Amino acid sequence: MLVSSTMHLLSMCVLSLVLSCCQGRVDPNFRIRAVNLGGWLVTEGWIKPSLFDGIVNKDFLDGTALQFKSVTTGKYLSAEQGGGSILVANRTTASGWETFRLWRTNETAFNFRVFGKQFIGVGTDGNGIDIVAVSKAPGHSETFEILRNSDDKNRVRIKAPNGYYLQAKTEEVVTADSQGNKGWGDDDPSVFVMKMTGRLEGEFQVTNGYGPENAPQVMREHWRTFIVEKDFEFISQNGLNAVRIPVGWWIASDPTPPPPFVGGSLQALDNAFQWAKKYGLKVIIDLHAAPGSQNGWEHSGCRDSSQEWGKTDETITQTVAVIDFLTSRYAKSPSLYAVELINEPLSPGVTLSSVIEYYKAGYAAVRRHTSTAFVVMSNRLGPMKPRELFPMASGLKRSVIDVHYYNLFEDMFNNMTLQQNIDFVYNNRSSQLNYLTTSNGPLTFVGEWVAEWQVVGAGKEDYQRLAEAQMEVYGRASFGWAYWTLKNVNKHWSLEWMINNGYIKL
Ligand SMILES: *[C@@H]1O[C@H](CO)[C@@H](O)[C@H](O)[C@H]1NC(C)=O
Ligand SMILES: *[C@@H]1O[C@H](CO)[C@@H](O)[C@H](O)[C@H]1NC(C)=O
Ligand SMILES: *[C@@H]1O[C@H](CO)[C@@H](O)[C@H](O)[C@H]1NC(C)=O
Ligand SMILES: *[C@@H]1O[C@H](CO)[C@@H](O)[C@H](O)[C@H]1NC(C)=O
Repeated sequence: MLVSSTMHLLSMCVLSLVLSCCQGRVDPNFRIRAVNLGGWLVTEGWIKPSLFDGIVNKDFLDGTALQFKSVTTGKYLSAEQGGGSILVANRTTASGWETFRLWRTNETAFNFRVFGKQFIGVGTDGNGIDIVAVSKAPGHSETFEILRNSDDKNRVRIKAPNGYYLQAKTEEVVTADSQGNKGWGDDDPSVFVMKMTGRLEGEFQVTNGYGPENAPQVMREHWRTFIVEKDFEFISQNGLNAVRIPVGWWIASDPTPPPPFVGGSLQALDNAFQWAKKYGLKVIIDLHAAPGSQNGWEHSGCRDSSQEWGKTDETITQTVAVIDFLTSRYAKSPSLYAVELINEPLSPGVTLSSVIEYYKAGYAAVRRHTSTAFVVMSNRLGPMKPRELFPMASGLKRSVIDVHYYNLFEDMFNNMTLQQNIDFVYNNRSSQLNYLTTSNGPLTFVGEWVAEWQVVGAGKEDYQRLAEAQMEVYGRASFGWAYWTLKNVNKHWSLEWMINNGYIKL
């Protein structure tokens, strides 16, 4: 038994040597064991909350979702028909039409985007006091201030650009003609009770929150201190062999990216490549934020949750140019291992045909500069067929399908026991991965996973089992896996913490 498995191993090694010698053929035994450098591109608020501390009015970042209940009508402000019409104050419950997303123009001035994506403003017809939601692009007439009651921050007035305050005159008439000087009682139709129902904390929010004066300094400091050379040393000393580095599309126009983004991200990536070389680590460049946003989440550089990527040819062409830029810059680096064309495109907003059109063009862009780098293509999230990329990817050499196996977000995990969670990994995740792993199709990559779950009272050993189960199953992915993430304020999401505290050992 022992002898035969040793023999088997030996012959595998010989085989892999033979294979790896021949014009860049892939060593079939090699697997990426990577960690994501999430948070370097500001990808989630809770990665480093202190990054937001210096922002004036930090409740009101881009994309913050607000609802307003009139104290006099007792009903919610609403964009009639979701947009394209007037504002009313006659809705008893609040959801899409009653939700306003902020665009921040400076620390005190905001645009309010409605469900149909229009901005509210003072109507140009009539007497200059009607509030409508018709503008497609915000200007002076769409710029408002929010004034908060100092005793109760959720009682607010909204000051219109004509200098007057919004008021719900009746349930069906909302105008900008109140002096707003009657105190904060329930009898003043210019007073609203504000409720925050959503918030984004990504790189757009940080940079626009600080504004052009302060953002460059804040981001430079973040890049200088958040991930440093020592981290690459740590990664290489703890059994990992690669890093997956999330970047934003604006990196391609560094050092002068379109505002609010600031220059310096390219230098940070250059540094990463230098450190990777020094410590023998491979790099997977991951385009995490694509122009227009491919998923509406803050980690895609999104301003207000709307998802525009792929809806125009322009967003696709622009993204291909970013891939071209990044690959050409790093193709000669011995550390460049793979280029991931886009992270987590979300169905149905991103259609199969647009993502396939993009993957073909993105693949060609990588191949213009390197024949050896792998090209990673993410399966869409949301409704999709697991093998939907196969017809396209199977013909492409060194292509890889990326899937993200988080086991805690779905409701179905809420009431699962420890053992059920572990079984889910061994049974369900395993068969999902098997279904994707074929002998002549693309390689498979579990590009994000974490040893965290929805189990209350789990102890250290339980976490160890969960991590081991995942490493065992995801270790069978033919390309490899990457943990999300290296550093995080939530300890189980921090691979650094998990390693330093003996929860994960490679
Ligand atoms: C913010 O913008 C508003 C409207 O454009 C302007 O009136 C105000 O002076 C600006 N405030 C600051 C602090 O720049
Ligand atoms: C609210 O007012 C608008 C405008 O008059 C009207 O079209 C709509 O039906 C009203 N909605 C409710 C829920 O009363
Ligand atoms: C979990 O169990 C509780 C109590 O039995 C139940 O109220 C809840 O609906 C369950 N949640 C899910 C997602 O099944
Ligand atoms: C896991 O797989 C089993 C067996 O195929 C199936 O019965 C079960 O519903 C799956 N569980 C979940 C949560 O999808």
